[in-house]
Amino acid sequence: MLRQALKRSLASVSSNRSNHTCTLIPGDGIGPEISDAVVKIFEAAGAPINWEVEDVYAVQEGGQWTIPRGCKESMLKNKVGLKGPLMTPIGAGHPSMNLMLRKTFSLYANVRPCKSLEGFPTAYENVDLVTIRENTEGEYSGIEHELVPGVVQSIKLITENASTNVADFAFEYARNNGRDTVTAVHKANIMRMSDGLFLNSCRKAAEKYPDIKFREMYLDTVCLNMVQEPTDFDVLVMPNLYGDILSDLCAGLIGGLGVTPSGNIGANNVALFESVHGTAPDIAGQDKANPTALLLSAVMMLRHLKLHDYGYRIEKACFDTIANGVNTTADLHGKGTCSGFTNEICERVQDIAYEKA
Ligand code: NAI
Repeated sequence: MLRQALKRSLASVSSNRSNHTCTLIPGDGIGPEISDAVVKIFEAAGAPINWEVEDVYAVQEGGQWTIPRGCKESMLKNKVGLKGPLMTPIGAGHPSMNLMLRKTFSLYANVRPCKSLEGFPTAYENVDLVTIRENTEGEYSGIEHELVPGVVQSIKLITENASTNVADFAFEYARNNGRDTVTAVHKANIMRMSDGLFLNSCRKAAEKYPDIKFREMYLDTVCLNMVQEPTDFDVLVMPNLYGDILSDLCAGLIGGLGVTPSGNIGANNVALFESVHGTAPDIAGQDKANPTALLLSAVMMLRHLKLHDYGYRIEKACFDTIANGVNTTADLHGKGTCSGFTNEICERVQDIAYEKA
């Protein structure tokens, strides 16, 4: 029902505007509700986006698991997409849907800005950092086997190519986003070859960006310092497993996965922005979901498209709505609904003027 309503509302939006066409993957569970919220808010803000809705599920092609051809073609054509959460049933017999998307579009860098939300106090103030995680290899390469019964081996694969891609991206991101420092997070003291190669790739990237400060820190030291003084950090770049863990830790500093946006940057300029929380099956279809993470991911998408004015207005309307506290959802300790929260943002966004930073 929700998915059909979303497609209908998108059809009318699409017919009016055509400045940027982006792929929208509503996803499963709460995905269609929060995608619908984003579409409504973009419409209220007058954001010039034309959405192409694509469903993603596992299909087999030539004996390999992959995603539907329609989504592949849409993403490769549009280059930019927004994605809700996708369910991977336990024992599905296929790799995780998110892994398949990463592989299909070679999404080598995962970017997660973590910024304290005005009006939603946590134990930490003024957090403003960005984690950049290598997204395709490391311990998550999926190379595991049994040597003898009772002894298994999992291979950590690190390549110069993937390390250089993500390291270059981190410096480029810092430069384009007015950031001062890139910190490479590693354990090259223990994993001398694998993390050593990653660190070396970061050092080489640093030489190409003399305007950005470069630091090297051990993962354990970063964890210790992060929970003591997160304001000491700016942009952090790291291999896959460290990034998976550290990015969730950082999300915790600002209020959790429900308010943390993310973007995946890939080969051929493909970029897919997504909320990092799951499908929340316990509240799906009940108008209880918080659309903030997907909305802030969509704001990242607008900035990626250089639509900074729309990004600023939508983000401000969202933060003001959270600070007001009347319509915030249960995960933010409120009593509001997804639709009430969305409507307040839609009303506010129309009164906000763009203030150039
Ligand atoms: P989950 O993130 O869906 O839920 C954990 C808890 O957080 C639940 O109580 C849920 O109600 C709440 N929650 C999550 N997002 C929320 C939101 N936007 N607003 C309000 N409350 C929210 O994690 P879970 O239960 O481990 O996973 C459920 C399904 O999601 C699984 O099939 C899993 O594979 C998939 N998943 C997909 C991800 C993605 O597509 N990026 C990431 C994580 C899980």
